[in-house]
Amino acid sequence: MLTENLIKTARDRIASAHSITVLTGAGISADSGVPTFRGEGGLWKQFRAEELATPEAFESHPEIVWEWYHWRRQIISEKRPNPAHEALVSLENACPSFTLITQNVDGLHPLAGSRKIIELHGSLWRMRCMRCGRITEKRSLELPRLPHCDLCRSLLRPDVVWFGEAINPLHLKKSLEACQGGGVFLVIGTSGIVQPAASFASIAKEHGAFTIEINRVDSEIADRDLLLIGRASEVVPQLIHANH
Ligand code: OAD
Repeated sequence: MLTENLIKTARDRIASAHSITVLTGAGISADSGVPTFRGEGGLWKQFRAEELATPEAFESHPEIVWEWYHWRRQIISEKRPNPAHEALVSLENACPSFTLITQNVDGLHPLAGSRKIIELHGSLWRMRCMRCGRITEKRSLELPRLPHCDLCRSLLRPDVVWFGEAINPLHLKKSLEACQGGGVFLVIGTSGIVQPAASFASIAKEHGAFTIEINRVDSEIADRDLLLIGRASEVVPQLIHANH
């Protein structure tokens, strides 16, 4: 089939779906200038993300881990949502049964206006108290080098899921429910390597969804009915704006 036919098939499926669930990864923010995880630029100073984003690293060197997060917050604060993020907001507004699951911690979906969203891996813009668990959301870059809880004065950590940590059980439950809703399951810009998100397309397909993937390359995502190769910021608006 020609790409145009593939796009038309995807567009028709999306337009007639009673339920739509979307899973996004770093690829959707790549066109906003946010580096992906497994591409270039994965290094900060001499460290790899896998060495810094761990509870052990935070316990032994909280100042180094926070310095890395301050740097990431600084970079991402300059980025804006792109047409793919915006198209998903239009889709959410048009479809009563809609869930967006993102693995991204950059906050670009909420900034674009997405509301029915599960931030599966957390957010760079939220912090969690190590002792009382209170969540603080702060987009301002003017944070102390080591931020502390307003209530109990204990150390705050970034509210993100680190290597070796479990996903928030409520987020996982809601994500699985959305995957089981049938309709259309759209996967955008993820390498499909990190669990549990890597299994969501298979679960959706098992529950009768038509699965569509958008990626610049053929990824590890199994069980998709249709693959659209291209940049998210170009392909996603074509799937959505024509119908809604
Ligand atoms: P990756 O960096 O592993 O994969 C990004 C995917 O986006 C790749 O498949 C690229 O081919 C694709 N891509 C790149 N540019 C694109 C574009 N313009 N349009 C469409 N696709 C594009 O990122 P994730 O799959 O999101 O977890 O990584 C998953 C998780 O691994 C992250 O959330 C993070 C990391 O460990 C945690 O931090 C817990």
